[in-house]
Amino acid sequence: MFTNKIVILAIESSCDDTGASIIIDGKVKSNCIATQTIHDQYGGVIPELASRQHQQNIVPVVDKAITEAGITLQDISAIAFTRGPGLLGSLLVGVSFAKALAMSLDIPLIEVHHMQAHILAHFAMDKKPEFPFLCLTVSGGHTQIVLVRDYLDMEILGQTIDDAAGEAFDKAGKLLGLPYPAGPHIDKLARNGKPVYSFPIPNIPELNFSFSGFKTSVLYFLQKNVQNNPNFIKENLENLCSSIQNTIIVILLKKLELAIKLHKVDTIAMAGGVSANSGLREALLQFGRTNHKKIFIPAFEYCTDNAAMIGITGYYKYLKGDFAELSVSPDPRMKM
Ligand code: KG4
Ligand code: ZN
Repeated sequence: MFTNKIVILAIESSCDDTGASIIIDGKVKSNCIATQTIHDQYGGVIPELASRQHQQNIVPVVDKAITEAGITLQDISAIAFTRGPGLLGSLLVGVSFAKALAMSLDIPLIEVHHMQAHILAHFAMDKKPEFPFLCLTVSGGHTQIVLVRDYLDMEILGQTIDDAAGEAFDKAGKLLGLPYPAGPHIDKLARNGKPVYSFPIPNIPELNFSFSGFKTSVLYFLQKNVQNNPNFIKENLENLCSSIQNTIIVILLKKLELAIKLHKVDTIAMAGGVSANSGLREALLQFGRTNHKKIFIPAFEYCTDNAAMIGITGYYKYLKGDFAELSVSPDPRMKM
């Protein structure tokens, strides 16, 4: 039925969500996800529990993606999967499943780098950025400024030397007593607050970031104020969230501004889970208006972990004939 088309089945299992997607000739036909809620009670992802949940979820999620796209297993041209970076046990489930299915269907395998895929999520959208562009990639595990010359030609210009931006949201949120992941909760609460508290902006050379000092300054600030007023957090939660979010935005945009100055690029994109943050989205759009830059921000479903971004990357690798060996194994610290 789809003989003249390139049909990619994509699998994403790098952390705690199991994703499967069908991409036909570079267009998203289905994008399914099984979110794991088991970790909520622990305040962070428990790797062993994540792998077990992936094992339970992977068959139904792939099945759903195939059904929603209106295809059959025989229509699939190749299987793309996240090879890394991520949690070893989680990656192992997706990689093993992809290998077994590719072997049984006798079709090629395509390994995908999770962070490269976050950037290429922009090509799942109707409005696509032109090359070259700078991408601020902000997730739970990474914070990078990447110069994107072509689909598969990317250079990391700077990155965090300790915590990622998403971790900064999650750790600050934990100090406020918010559930994991705290990023979306801080986002929501910040909308009714004002950034009345200020936290120091780290002075890190070149285009690198650091968020560990920020987390410590939030901790000391809260300890000091809670000592004077045990209800300090409860009484000031919205303003605290707004102040925390605002500081993270200032840290990110300050470096992005420097990258633009150094590399003279007019098209700016943002990717990764933290790019779902409404304050950051608005601040970047405002930055674009002020500085006459074209800004690209993916739809929410393509910001946080999803399999469509793996499939889009898989599609461009398929066009180049860039296939993986059947002996491929997960690479938790995979380099871009
Ligand atoms: O890209 P992602 O889904 O997974 C990784 O590859 O890490 O990013 C997850 C991160 C978490 O730290 C989460 O708190 C953060 O993205 N996040 C947000 C928002 N939505 C997700 N942070 C701030 N505001 C949001 N709306
Ligand atoms: Zn991610």
